[in-house]
Amino acid sequence: MNHKLLEGKRGIVFGALNEMSIAWKVAERAVEEGAIITLSNTPVAVRMGETAELGKKLNAEILPADATNVEDLDMVFSKSVEILGGKIDFVLHSIGMSPNVRKKRTYDDIDYDMLNKTLDISAISFHKMLQSAKKLDAIAEGGSIIALSYIASQRTFYGYNDMADAKALLESITRSFGYIYGREKGVRINTISQSPTLTTAGSGVKGMEDLMDFANRMSPIGNANADDCADYCIVMFSDLTRKVTMQNLYNDGGFSSMGMSLRAMKQYSNAVEENKDENGKIIYG
Ligand SMILES: NC(=O)c1ccc[n+]([C@@H]2O[C@H](COP(=O)([O-])OP(=O)(O)OC[C@H]3O[C@@H](n4cnc5c(N)ncnc54)[C@H](O)[C@@H]3O)[C@@H](O)[C@H]2O)c1
Repeated sequence: MNHKLLEGKRGIVFGALNEMSIAWKVAERAVEEGAIITLSNTPVAVRMGETAELGKKLNAEILPADATNVEDLDMVFSKSVEILGGKIDFVLHSIGMSPNVRKKRTYDDIDYDMLNKTLDISAISFHKMLQSAKKLDAIAEGGSIIALSYIASQRTFYGYNDMADAKALLESITRSFGYIYGREKGVRINTISQSPTLTTAGSGVKGMEDLMDFANRMSPIGNANADDCADYCIVMFSDLTRKVTMQNLYNDGGFSSMGMSLRAMKQYSNAVEENKDENGKIIYG
């Protein structure tokens, strides 16, 4: 399915860890649509993960970088311009991690050092990326930058924990920086708010399979998977969306506009018993 939407464009894809990663699918689709790209992930992920395999397959150089480290990001942008032979047309930020979620700390008992890490990795890294790119003047006029979000930024979802705060900040940075970068350089910045998707980061979310099932039952056209997300990213990187900026764009089968679907209600009515722990104490679900 090649529409040559990204022919002649240069891009950077952050966050492809393995075949399940959304960034992995985006990188594949971008090259399929004619782009040349570089890939970036943490040094540890590059060593332990499968990023090198993807690099080989797509003929893309890999630039290891911690996205919370500005010097690393400066290196990724300047090297990418050098390697790809010109300014960058599109960037994908597909990065997220919460130590509080990993350590199973509940939202009313979070560790604040861990919260700082969650925010730095999952949201402030996007600001760092944008600031680094802008200072280096690494993005071409009309370039398109996307970060991936989740609806828990705007509505409460059980178990999403401090990642909800990180996503709210990510979406706010998108608007604030989108104004400045758009005004000065014509660069557009958007977030795509994706359905729950089974990936390494996704499977860290409490009750992920139930959440996916619920979202699927609530969405009139069902959950969007990683391939659907990749397609949306390609359109957003292309010239077809040159006036879209500072938006949080839902790729969720309609979930975000639903109140209650018949399928979800039927399922729900089979399980109205209060949730209790092993001591009979009610868990507020
Ligand atoms: N999976 C879902 O259900 C879902 C839904 C909506 C949004 N998202 C978002 O999509 C994005 C990609 O996640 P995914 O689901 O593909 O999972 P993933 O685990 O494949 O990707 C997360 C990536 O973040 C990278 N990362 C972590 N810390 C980093 C750091 N300090 N510097 C650079 N990279 C770092 C990891 O190495 C990994 O490649 C995340 O922002 C996630 O929150 C995921």
